[in-house]
Amino acid sequence: MTESFLNPQYIQDYQHFEQHITKIFSQAGWKVETAKNNQPGYDLIVKNDLYTIAVQVKWLKGKVSTPQILQFSDFLDSEAGKKFDYGFLVTTKGFSNPVLSLIKSWNQPTKMYCGIASETKINWIKPFVHTNSDRYINRPKNKIYFGIFTCKGGVGKTTLSAHLAGAFVLQELNVALIDLDPEQNLLKLVGDGIYLPNNKGGIGHSIEVFKPEEWHEDAAPDAQLVICDCSPAFERNPQELIAKFDYCVIPTTLNPLGINKHGKVIEDTVQAIRKINKKTHLFVVVNNYKKTSKSKLSILRKTYLNAYYDIEQQDEKFHCIDPEQAVIRASEQLYYWGIHLLENPDQPRSELAFNLVGGRCHPREDFINLADYIETTIGGDIFRTS
Ligand SMILES: Nc1ncnc2c1ncn2[C@@H]1O[C@H](COP(=O)(O)OP(=O)(O)O)[C@@H](O)[C@H]1O
Ligand SMILES: [Mg+2]
Repeated sequence: MTESFLNPQYIQDYQHFEQHITKIFSQAGWKVETAKNNQPGYDLIVKNDLYTIAVQVKWLKGKVSTPQILQFSDFLDSEAGKKFDYGFLVTTKGFSNPVLSLIKSWNQPTKMYCGIASETKINWIKPFVHTNSDRYINRPKNKIYFGIFTCKGGVGKTTLSAHLAGAFVLQELNVALIDLDPEQNLLKLVGDGIYLPNNKGGIGHSIEVFKPEEWHEDAAPDAQLVICDCSPAFERNPQELIAKFDYCVIPTTLNPLGINKHGKVIEDTVQAIRKINKKTHLFVVVNNYKKTSKSKLSILRKTYLNAYYDIEQQDEKFHCIDPEQAVIRASEQLYYWGIHLLENPDQPRSELAFNLVGGRCHPREDFINLADYIETTIGGDIFRTS
């Protein structure tokens, strides 16, 4: 007998193999159902809050060959297969070389994922992030709400809402944006969605944008995060949404004559939010930050941090972000992000100012850093674990 005919001890026959796969998925937090007898196309259904997945279990003497893959692929494209979000094909001995090249040629995200079962887990040929890591398995049932709010126009609320959403999407979280500003700048800028190619140039993700009247809890079933671009006029924002905010990002600027004035604006902003929502964490972040000499920055930073000292003492969920830790720099890309509004007002363009220029992208770095800062301050994997 050649090696490929030997099965690991824990698999004696097909029945045992199916039980083994069921156990692996159950232990990873999935609900597993067995398909009806004679059900063509799949053997198991695995489910969580987000996905329903058809699983084909291949207990073979040898490696899985191309026709077997294509057959499952055809099933997933058929009417019966369309009700599944994904298809998993799991086997014991691996895949033939032509199959491996086929799998590698598929763009991400694909509908089918292929894996080899070991004693304790499934080794995916191309990683299926949703099962490979625990990020999604333990995700909270409730969506996490962010408000981007300062009771002042032109400080960067809309710019921050869209790009913070982008930073989360780059971490493979799904985000819904709600445009609460009656001026509807966000909707004018990006239409009803923003497309974000992934880092490797493959198929990326979209961010859906909603009007407040379109929004309800089930409007974006896949979204873990909801980000609200608020109106600067506090009373214009729906109270029931403000009450839901878990995190509030308050953009401000660091201009020397404005800091104390802004201190007052922020104080009013915090008071207004707190009347409705006592639980939300509040983060003041400097936007449109311009590089300056160390000595000047030191004076600005001190004045800025001082302006919020009193609020910080009174409100333990108020965080004034030190510009040395996280800041959104002034950037041409962000400045011109909205330019097409003037050039061609009827054609929203669904993209962010995340393109690399000379191999770098300041907005992308800054927003990922901000997202990371918020997450770390609150205490780790808040968006992914319960
Ligand atoms: N970091 C930045 N760098 C350059 N321009 C910026 C930056 N942040 C915002 N802007 C520009 O400032 C203007 C106001 O920003 P916006 O997001 O519309 O503010 P708000 O929503 O608070 O009214 C826009 O033209 C935007 O392009
Ligand atoms: Mg705005």
